[in-house]
Amino acid sequence: MDLGLSGKTALITGGTSGIGLAIAQRLGAEGCRIAICGRQRTKLDAAIATLNATEAKGFIADVCKPADIAALIDDVVNAFGGIDIVVSNAGTHIAGRIDDVATDDLVRHFHTKVIGPWELARRVAPHMRRQGGGRFIVIIGQTGKVPQANAIASTITNAAQHAFVKSLSDELAADKILVNAVCPSRIKSPLTDGLKLYNEVYLGRSLEQQESKWGADVPLGRWGTPDDIANAVAFLASSRAGFIVGANIDVDGGHQRSIF
Ligand SMILES: NC(=O)c1ccc[n+]([C@@H]2O[C@H](COP(=O)([O-])OP(=O)(O)OC[C@H]3O[C@@H](n4cnc5c(N)ncnc54)[C@H](OP(=O)(O)O)[C@@H]3O)[C@@H](O)[C@H]2O)c1
Repeated sequence: MDLGLSGKTALITGGTSGIGLAIAQRLGAEGCRIAICGRQRTKLDAAIATLNATEAKGFIADVCKPADIAALIDDVVNAFGGIDIVVSNAGTHIAGRIDDVATDDLVRHFHTKVIGPWELARRVAPHMRRQGGGRFIVIIGQTGKVPQANAIASTITNAAQHAFVKSLSDELAADKILVNAVCPSRIKSPLTDGLKLYNEVYLGRSLEQQESKWGADVPLGRWGTPDDIANAVAFLASSRAGFIVGANIDVDGGHQRSIF
């Protein structure tokens, strides 16, 4: 199926690893010109080297810093002449209950996952309006729909992201900027590999025991891959998804139990 993405410019935040890297690879393979951002030049260069794109550039930016986002959008527009697709993906997961999570860590997480995407949308919308439209896709996570005590910080930020995506999608639809979300769960990536210590300390299980339990919780019986998310994003970014707006699509092998 031709997704109609050839020649589009896509910016993926957090494109140096895991899901963001797979999205950059997929959109590059579909013919997009790729911009990725991250906080480390060596990781950016290594990620760019894996892309099969006609054009790809890596930009240093910390999405917690509004000035970095303003400079990022200006730099991408200057380098590529515009931006058609933004994938707001940068972030992490904060494990732990209320007594485990320092308030400063919650605030930083909120800046990464909520204020960062907010600033990104504010900065890119004027460019997309001038171009006659665009796509803004946010990678969220399922704790926002199914709150978890042992992931209270991510539950709060993910719920805020859902509210943000839905209200932003209403506002920008009139400008043909289609805003949607993808909700991963149980995706094998450096992030989920990094939950090892948490599993051992809090759950008394090794990563391997936890992986096998979590895999068994998924109706499809396995962990997902970053490519599973990238395929959904490529569809949402494409001309084939022209009547989808304000949606949040679970890509999780059926793991999420909520019907909404
Ligand atoms: N894996 C899952 O099952 C799962 C489930 C739910 C939600 N998610 C969400 O999916 C997204 C990607 O997760 P992943 O599993 O691919 O994680 P990952 O492999 O750890 O990748 C995270 C990416 O985000 C970037 N990043 C983090 N903080 C940043 C900041 N302040 N500014 C700029 N870049 C930043 C990192 O780049 P640098 O370190 O190079 O800066 C890296 O490229 C995250 O938002 C995560 O919350 C994942």
